[in-house]
Amino acid sequence: MRASYSYSVLTLLALAADVLVLAAPSPSQPPGQTIRLSRRTVDRTTEEWGAWAKSHREGLTNKYNGGNAKARAKRGSGTNLIVNQNADSTYFGSIAVGTPPVAFDVILDTGSADLWLADSTCSVGCQEITTFDSSASSSFTNLTRSFSITYGSGAAAGVLGQDVVQMAGFSVSNQTFAAVDQVSDGLLTSPVSGLLGLAFQTIASSGATPLWQNLVESGAWDSPVMSFQLTRYVDQSGAQSLEAGGTFTMGFVNDTLYTGDIDYVDIPGGTGSYWILEMSELSVGGTSISLSSGSSSYAAIDTGTTLVGGPASVISELYAAIPNAQAGTGDYEGYYIYPCSQSVTVEVAFGGRTWSISPNDFELAQLSTSQCLGAFFDIDMGSSSSTPSWIVGDTFLKNVYSVFRYSPASVGFANLSTTATAMNGDLDAEVPTPTLGSVAAAITATGTSGSGRTSSSSPATLRVPRVEPTMLLTFIGLLIGLLSIV
Ligand SMILES: *[C@@H]1O[C@H](CO)[C@@H](O)[C@H](O)[C@H]1NC(C)=O
Ligand SMILES: *[C@@H]1O[C@H](CO)[C@@H](O)[C@H](O)[C@H]1NC(C)=O
Ligand SMILES: *[C@@H]1O[C@H](CO)[C@@H](O)[C@H](O)[C@H]1NC(C)=O
Ligand SMILES: *[C@@H]1O[C@H](CO)[C@@H](O)[C@H](O)[C@H]1NC(C)=O
Repeated sequence: MRASYSYSVLTLLALAADVLVLAAPSPSQPPGQTIRLSRRTVDRTTEEWGAWAKSHREGLTNKYNGGNAKARAKRGSGTNLIVNQNADSTYFGSIAVGTPPVAFDVILDTGSADLWLADSTCSVGCQEITTFDSSASSSFTNLTRSFSITYGSGAAAGVLGQDVVQMAGFSVSNQTFAAVDQVSDGLLTSPVSGLLGLAFQTIASSGATPLWQNLVESGAWDSPVMSFQLTRYVDQSGAQSLEAGGTFTMGFVNDTLYTGDIDYVDIPGGTGSYWILEMSELSVGGTSISLSSGSSSYAAIDTGTTLVGGPASVISELYAAIPNAQAGTGDYEGYYIYPCSQSVTVEVAFGGRTWSISPNDFELAQLSTSQCLGAFFDIDMGSSSSTPSWIVGDTFLKNVYSVFRYSPASVGFANLSTTATAMNGDLDAEVPTPTLGSVAAAITATGTSGSGRTSSSSPATLRVPRVEPTMLLTFIGLLIGLLSIV
């Protein structure tokens, strides 16, 4: 029995005060300099788990009901070492923005398509966060078009601008992003300053072409792919709030991190919005669960979501195959509790090979001596055919090397190598610090700069309610749930 839930998945706002003890990189920190981050464990009570579970599920529903360049440089490839925050809740990397460049930690999210950063004029909800100061950047252009993000219990808003954005050795001279000056209290948890959307421009709330898409469409990448290797700490009781998170690559796949070949499956219809695949098989402990074919089994492959959410009927059937599992109630509605004595192995396929999810990822939390909380939960994504029915997040993605390919639009998975799996749960691993590196390829964006509303159409009317502590999740899904153009 674990005496405390120190391997907790998300930081509740209730814990934010403690979490904020972490030293954030100073905005004026010179690029490339080592930044010390203090580390501490985050404990969570059963009540806090319940509140988290409830918020997590509600936020996701909102997330999914929303919404060309000239190469001037040689091709290249790059790696960004990422950070695992709060035992696999969030994975963030770093970008640098402006002239002179300033480094920011941003959540890496294949489930949305906008880049936004907390702005230095932000007075609400941005305490202890490294913020973007547009007046300190000689290359910043204010597009004076407002951007807003709303979700069930909170909001953020700001203005669209353009500036030099660098990542993993690439540079886009005029990348459109939002400088956000209103954030619901607790939405951002230090050291994270914002979010980098890695899905397609078609779902960008700003209308702007995303950073990755500017790069790939300009021909800046050696190969039109980006990839993730994500570490697992959820099963480590000594995990600190920040641990080494794995690697994110642009323009290549690192073949020391996987074995065999990458099994690519095309996105249905061939057009990207979310990174969607059709779930074709699901089984638990060898028992096959029935899935309908077609769009009702479409799944968004989403690095910015912690867990796996799917249709209630399928999730119910899945837990029916686990002896003595029962539906949660109250805050745990939509979740299931099962006996910790069961080691649950879920297997899933998306039209290609079958992938196995570790029982250590399925066990999200131990709620009592004998009761465990499962990482698959039910979520009603609504009836729109444009929204996927499943959200397949990090619970799955920690078990594979994942590759997001621009053309042909597809997602590929491969087995992790022992080099990659050796990084799981390593309590001595150094936590990566934001570094810039030298720029291998620089481009000028010629894609869409965004279609946000004009600033006359009132950020003033935006309500930024004070949210309850339990709503203060760092959970990326909630952040993204915000992205909706009014
Ligand atoms: C952009 O311009 C608007 C309107 O002049 C101003 O209110 C806002 O503060 C500016 N934002 C930034 C980030 O410079
Ligand atoms: C590939 O990953 C390995 C293991 O993390 C690392 O040592 C190596 O530098 C990476 N290769 C490239 C080209 O980034
Ligand atoms: C991936 O790993 C699984 C489990 O170890 C193994 O059964 C399978 O053959 C591997 N697949 C490939 C393509 O290497
Ligand atoms: C970026 O700058 C170039 C050159 O000034 C311009 O042609 C292009 O339209 C800009 N792109 C965006 C997205 O604003």
